[in-house]
Amino acid sequence: MYDLLVLGGGPAGYLAAERAGHEGMSVCCFEMRELGGVCLNEGCIPSKALLNCAKVYEHALHGEKFGVLTHDIALDHALVQKRRARVVRTLVAGVKAKMREHHVEVVRERAVLRGRVDGGFAVEAGGQVYEGKRLLIATGSSPVVPPIPGLREGLDSGWVVTNREVLALPEAPKKLLIIGGGVVGLEMAAYYRTAGSEVAVVEMLDHIAGATDREISDLLLKEYRRKGVDFRLGAKVVALGEGRVTVVEAGGDTVRLEADKVLLCVGRRANVQEMGLETLGVEITRAGVRVDACGRTNVPDVFAAGDVNGVSMLAHTAYREAEVCVNTMLGRQDAMRYDAIPSVIYTLPEVAGVGLTEEQAREQGVAYECRKLSMRYSGRFVAENEGDGLCKMLIDAQRRTVLGVHMIGAYASEIIWGAAAMIETGLRVEDARKIVFPHPTVSEMIREVLWTFS
Ligand code: NAI
Repeated sequence: MYDLLVLGGGPAGYLAAERAGHEGMSVCCFEMRELGGVCLNEGCIPSKALLNCAKVYEHALHGEKFGVLTHDIALDHALVQKRRARVVRTLVAGVKAKMREHHVEVVRERAVLRGRVDGGFAVEAGGQVYEGKRLLIATGSSPVVPPIPGLREGLDSGWVVTNREVLALPEAPKKLLIIGGGVVGLEMAAYYRTAGSEVAVVEMLDHIAGATDREISDLLLKEYRRKGVDFRLGAKVVALGEGRVTVVEAGGDTVRLEADKVLLCVGRRANVQEMGLETLGVEITRAGVRVDACGRTNVPDVFAAGDVNGVSMLAHTAYREAEVCVNTMLGRQDAMRYDAIPSVIYTLPEVAGVGLTEEQAREQGVAYECRKLSMRYSGRFVAENEGDGLCKMLIDAQRRTVLGVHMIGAYASEIIWGAAAMIETGLRVEDARKIVFPHPTVSEMIREVLWTFS
């Protein structure tokens, strides 16, 4: 009998397996596709490989401003695809190596729970039964498919694709229509627009990028409209078929937009079906498997981490949840906190944020102060970039602790963790100002903004 059976080999599953193995537990991890899950194979990593190629290309296009004379520049989508595949292969091999290093047995089969056995639980995979003292459910999530006429047929024929296929299209479609202006939609709009596609984004809300600070998402919207992306906000797709997508626009007009490919990205749903959770009586809510702050489900010794709990649906949240679960299994005190989880959109320019946005602070009735500065306050930003960006910070008006930081501009994704650390540790403005930032870096923007408060 294993100490731990892990269902799912994505960021939550493989990291939990690795940590548990490191602590000397015997672990078996089940993965029906590839180790690394959505993040590594059809999400975070391949999309970043694509987006970096687009970034290199855009930099080359504007090379002259930086003294680099470039001619006959082209973005070759086929070569980009080769690079994406190589990057993914390398990293999947890395996860496999980690599993070996920590003596985790990996079973490449679909696993189904088969109830209790003496002293633990049974899982069936590939016709074999495995027993474990504890379970970790880390089966991830799948794209939401809304009941729009023609959508299912479109998916079946390959005309409509999801995050998985869009990353591996053999060529950039002439006309790409994206349903959903959230993170997936924006990142793919960014890549394919640069790769030469005509891109339209149909978003139900009156703004893009979901819960991103509104001032920041408006700047991103403006930038991508300038780059030629056709955003239809407050619009609804009502039917699809024959190469056209029928959209009811904000004003009530109905238009039919042509598309060679349609990307569906309107959110994700926890994978909780057909895996035998009912054999143990694991409680499931509308969002996913219900867990407490330690990752425990309602069934003792059954844990859940990652997208399957429906709380945050980000790979970096999954990592931390996995650690909390393993620590709890080992009797160590640990718990999840969700108020300092950074979010990033890897467009050009990048967007990154952590903590409360102004909208959330207002909604929650928090007494806050907000200050913002142009990124051109950073010497390195000006030296390296043409355009502009923004960095804004919210602090608690009484306690003067940092509540939120939101940025748009180069390196935002690499800087934001520092702001997360300030929020996580409840740092006050006066104390944060004592931190020495390397100069010249764009990270100094945080220091600059800290000094704008009285
Ligand atoms: P999302 O929740 O980020 O965005 C979905 C968007 O679709 C929302 O703006 C929503 O208003 C809109 N929408 C919903 N129904 C619609 C409809 N019928 N018509 C038009 N618009 C509609 O979900 P997305 O982009 O699919 O991403 C899935 C998950 O993956 C998210 O949890 C996201 O955080 C994660 N992700 C994270 C990335 C990152 O951290 N950089 C990159 C890509 C995905």
